[in-house]
Amino acid sequence: MTKACCPGSFDPVTNGHLDVIERAARLFDELIIAVSEEPTQTKLALFTTEERIELIGEVTTHIDGLKVTSFGGLLVDFCREMDCDVIVKGIRAVSDFDYEMQMAQMNARMGVPTVFLPTSPEYSYLSSSLLKQVVTLGGEITGLVPSTVEKRLLERLKK
Ligand code: PNS
Repeated sequence: MTKACCPGSFDPVTNGHLDVIERAARLFDELIIAVSEEPTQTKLALFTTEERIELIGEVTTHIDGLKVTSFGGLLVDFCREMDCDVIVKGIRAVSDFDYEMQMAQMNARMGVPTVFLPTSPEYSYLSSSLLKQVVTLGGEITGLVPSTVEKRLLERLKK
């Protein structure tokens, strides 16, 4: 039985994330979505960890056996604590590859392998950061996030 961990900031979850989560859930026996409690220096979180977990929970009710939780510290320590055999990450484009490869190789060195899933082409340009920018500047994001996420983004960002 293979248990996988899909980590990320998910600030907020997009249809691109959801696509990777749905496909990963079909590939592995168990899947844990691990929401990072520590956004990187370049990414200040718009939603709290609890809100990000709640939003993922709301849009993944159709996926059986999925667990959504948060983690702090090293991802490999979380994987060991949760008995995850593998990390699964979506890759959108070549631009993602360098950084993801670096992390995957460091995590492999620390004992946990990574499997990359190519993002479906219709979501290859999609990122949470870009969505937040578009909403802040009055643009339209229908179809790029689940409707409940769209509502929360608009409430939070639209002046
Ligand atoms: O949504 P993101 O930005 O792709 O998520 C990045 C995340 C949270 C998966 C990554 O920054 C991470 O694994 N952080 C945990 C700290 C850690 O283990 N760092 C060493 C990675 S080699």
